[in-house]
Amino acid sequence: MAKKNIGTVSAISPIPAFMATCADKNGNSNIITISYGGIINAVPPMAYISVRDTRYSYHMLKETGEFVINIPGGNLTKETDLCGILSARKVNKWEATKLTPVEASIVKVPMIKECPVNIECVIKHIIALGSHDIFLAEIVATHADEEVLNDKNKVMIDKFKPFAFCYNAQEYWTLDSLIGHYGWAAKEIDK
Ligand SMILES: Cc1cc2nc3c(=O)[nH]c(=O)nc-3n(C[C@H](O)[C@H](O)[C@H](O)COP(=O)(O)O)c2cc1C
Repeated sequence: MAKKNIGTVSAISPIPAFMATCADKNGNSNIITISYGGIINAVPPMAYISVRDTRYSYHMLKETGEFVINIPGGNLTKETDLCGILSARKVNKWEATKLTPVEASIVKVPMIKECPVNIECVIKHIIALGSHDIFLAEIVATHADEEVLNDKNKVMIDKFKPFAFCYNAQEYWTLDSLIGHYGWAAKEIDK
């Protein structure tokens, strides 16, 4: 099949769609949906989110230097989309989504109770890239609902069915079945 040059679009797919929580110095908190985000370093464990300076959340991130990455299950696709369309400038997203803020263990930013995985982050570097600023942060705590953990405390995605975002097509997709393990193909060669 012939290749077609489709330009310099963001076609890396899928990418995550999660809800990040943040707060200002007065303790007012907000939820922003992020797809430009993920893990970026192992030791120390680090994560990132890239945020436009036009987002209401932007000044909150700068003010307190903290955020929480809240990973939604497949039951929270609508809430995730809403928090990526509504702005705290006009709407209280906690009230609009009926999501529940719960205290985190280290950062002052609340976590979302209904999300089965919550990752507390402390911002270490901010780099302006153009449209977005990247907030590089150290992961200082990770929480998971017991129901989504296996007996080795690993997060099992079949237990909460997280979903992915395809930026280019602007679509949300499920991740339905296990098709391999890390290093599994190499083990086949070693035989
Ligand atoms: C699936 C999805 C992913 C998004 N990813 C990002 C992102 O990575 N960075 C960003 O700045 N905005 C992103 N947005 C847009 C913001 O979530 C949106 O502008 C939101 O309304 C900002 O809220 P705020 O003004 O309350 O901060 C995304 C929106 C959606 C629906």
